Amino acid sequence: MKQSVKMIVGNWKMNGLSADLVEATALADSLSGSAPAARVALCPAATLIARMAWALNGRPIEIGGQDCHTAAAGAHTGSISAAMLKDAGAGLVIVGHSERRQACGETDAIVAAKFEAAVAAGLEPIVCVGETLAERETGQAVALVTVQVAASVPATAAGQAFAVAYEPVWAIGTGLTPTLEQIAEVHAAIRAALVARLGDGGHRVPILYGGSVNPGNAAEILRVAEVGGALVGGASLKADSFLAIIRAAE
Ligand code: G3P
Repeated sequence: MKQSVKMIVGNWKMNGLSADLVEATALADSLSGSAPAARVALCPAATLIARMAWALNGRPIEIGGQDCHTAAAGAHTGSISAAMLKDAGAGLVIVGHSERRQACGETDAIVAAKFEAAVAAGLEPIVCVGETLAERETGQAVALVTVQVAASVPATAAGQAFAVAYEPVWAIGTGLTPTLEQIAEVHAAIRAALVARLGDGGHRVPILYGGSVNPGNAAEILRVAEVGGALVGGASLKADSFLAIIRAAE
């Protein structure tokens, strides 16, 4: 069975102060008129999660975190646990974003541990994978992403609610995107890796595409086989552009 409702997730990264909650509420106002056909979520900085959850209470927008620690609690100065995100009002959490894999040295094993911590706290993980430009140019994209999925998604994930996001590192924030054929090829490989890892349940995992998604390219990307939604960075910061991407998913 394939995922039919697209999942559109905004990753605000390290952007957004309390004044920017106006964008989230503007988006909620637009979506509240007619219930969105897509599943919509925003992942703001941790400082905004509780206030965003309060501001959007009852609105058709879910809230997510951008990262969580592998541990449930303890002496980890500056970190945030999955339970804290849940307590603040989040229902989802991004794990293994390439910006964290690169800047914080997160390995597939760490990402898998974060996945398990998230699930234990009642959060739905969104596991990011994707190749660098050098890996793409040397023909390693499919193999690399396949390995990342196998090693970042725990074997215990069968039956759990989660998503995978394919984010080519070279497409993030650059305005560059893979061809539709390249997206289809990698998404098919991710699907195969999920089924190999989880059995039939692997067919039900949404696979999002992320990397320079904007109102102009969203519709064609979202029509590609095995693209179950989008993980959107820059274009999710403004209500009008994010709304246009959500509408492209309908
Ligand atoms: O997680 C979303 C992301 O990395 C893509 O960012 O700005 O290229 O849409 P952007």
